[in-house]
Amino acid sequence: MDATDLLLVGMRWLHAVAAVAWIGAVIFELIALGPAFNGAVPHEAQRRIDTATREIVQSSLVVFLLSGAILTFERLSYNVVGTGYVSLLGLKIVLAIAMFQIAFRSRRADPERRTAGSRWVVGLGITILFLAALLKSIFERSLVP
Ligand code: HEM
Repeated sequence: MDATDLLLVGMRWLHAVAAVAWIGAVIFELIALGPAFNGAVPHEAQRRIDTATREIVQSSLVVFLLSGAILTFERLSYNVVGTGYVSLLGLKIVLAIAMFQIAFRSRRADPERRTAGSRWVVGLGITILFLAALLKSIFERSLVP
């Protein structure tokens, strides 16, 4: 294993950790925190939760963009994937951008729209994870002659 391999393993690891941290935090808010306060988290508690989750979201965003760009470059550099792979990867990126947008906009919204926004983030996140699994499978198949 050389330095490039180690860099790629690091990028793949960071990419997966960012996905777990972000989607995990939003799922926790939706299914544990909301019901624990009957859907009305006290203002001060909400403010503190927001400060903590903002850091997760902002760090994840930087990690996704950096590691996503490197993983994309790595996959495409093999020159083995076809239009199916490229289209699905394009769809994954579009859904990721939609997820980032919704996450940032719903942070400033009223509680009802905020919950709706969080549901969209989780739905999009889970769809993106499915696309990531699909892309991996297509890529591995493309390597077999
Ligand atoms: C700018 C945004 C993004 C780009 C350019 C990007 C790009 C990529 C690429 C090229 C791969 C490798 C696919 C393959 O195996 O052939 C990948 C894997 C993956 N992506 Fe993303 N991605 C982005 C955002 C996201 C987001 C928002 C999530 C989570 C919701 C995510 C979760 C994953 C996961 C879990 C993997 C599998 C990592 C592994 O191999 O273990 N990605 N991504």
